[in-house]
Amino acid sequence: MMLSDPDGVAHLYVHLPFCASRCGYCAFVVEVGQEHQRDAYLDALLMELERERVVLGPLDTVYLGGGTPSLMGADRLAKLLAAIGPLLAPGAEVSMEANPETVDEALLDAIVNGGVTRLSLGVQSSRPHLLGVLDRRATPDDAARAVALARAAGIGALSVDLILAVPGQSPDDLAADLEWVSDAAPDHVSWYELEFKEGSAIARGNLAPPDEDMATDLYLAAVDGLEAAGYRWYELANFARPGAECRHSLAYWAASDYLGIGVGAVSTIAPRRWRNAPGIDRYTVALAAGDAPVRTHEELDADTRRRERWMLGTRVDADLDVAWAGPPDRPAALVMLEAEGLIETAPGTVRLTRRGRLLQNAVVQKLMDFA
Ligand SMILES: C[S@@+](CC[C@H](N)C(=O)[O-])C[C@H]1O[C@@H](n2cnc3c(N)ncnc32)[C@H](O)[C@@H]1O
Ligand code: SF4
Repeated sequence: MMLSDPDGVAHLYVHLPFCASRCGYCAFVVEVGQEHQRDAYLDALLMELERERVVLGPLDTVYLGGGTPSLMGADRLAKLLAAIGPLLAPGAEVSMEANPETVDEALLDAIVNGGVTRLSLGVQSSRPHLLGVLDRRATPDDAARAVALARAAGIGALSVDLILAVPGQSPDDLAADLEWVSDAAPDHVSWYELEFKEGSAIARGNLAPPDEDMATDLYLAAVDGLEAAGYRWYELANFARPGAECRHSLAYWAASDYLGIGVGAVSTIAPRRWRNAPGIDRYTVALAAGDAPVRTHEELDADTRRRERWMLGTRVDADLDVAWAGPPDRPAALVMLEAEGLIETAPGTVRLTRRGRLLQNAVVQKLMDFA
């Protein structure tokens, strides 16, 4: 295969889909009630890694995502990490997602010994009534306990996921989340606006999202509060203490190549993108038979890649290098957006203003022709 990076792909995503239940807002590829399949799944994952490792160079970042990776248990995670270890470059970042109620000392010891450098805890809210709306299993006490255990186990970089614009969320609820962050003192915060994803229980139900103005106010309160606490708003939904940015996510936003393994995992090795089909059974059966998983393939043409570079590159708080990204489809829109105070331009670069970042998607849609 022709690689776009001659040294090989430096970023690996591993999908671990098991969940104890499906949260009402979640539309990710997850498997509920399938824990008996974990051994077979791990075997299949290792086979897929073995099949695909020819495209890999020394890995700069690895991300174990889910699903609920922590539900794999200490021994299986240790086995997976032992297979990945020899592929890592010196100083590699190895992230893993975990749900607070599934974290204990044995699990944390196993992953720290296995090379995990960064833990992302799915806290989502500090408010019991909002955790109820989100169908979360963890209580605020579980989250606080998981943070303390992670620190005691020597996790180098701790991140928490939070969600804003949850139905019923008030500015006081958001202030309580900020206080929670200040007490827990993570190195990194991902604070996503709740999306009513098609097919999710919340989208089918009768709860209304907060109106747009309220959602914007909550978003701004999160940005202001985290900045005041010393976090940099380095990406639309991500905040980091200096040096604690997620390198794996930065690679996505830089449109770098990555390999994804596991059910539902996506890989992009330009000019190709492929997606493994969901469904553990067909995944394990295909790999046990020595075949590739069932996949859909897409060829990425130059225009698609150029538009993706604009969509991804304007998410981060850095100048977009137009020579790298390629020209916008509607250059005249640059003048209009700058006059509206949404972007700033300099020779060869474009940057979104703070106001522009709140409207990033709309700004990029003005510049580019998406199909
Ligand atoms: C793929 S999930 C897996 C993490 C882990 N299982 C958990 O739930 O904490 C990663 C993150 O995506 C976010 N997320 C999932 N669905 C979302 C939605 N519909 N809207 C906004 N954020 C969402 C949550 O914050 C979650 O922690
Ligand atoms: S949000 Fe996390 S725990 Fe909930 S169903 Fe999705 S992946 Fe599983």
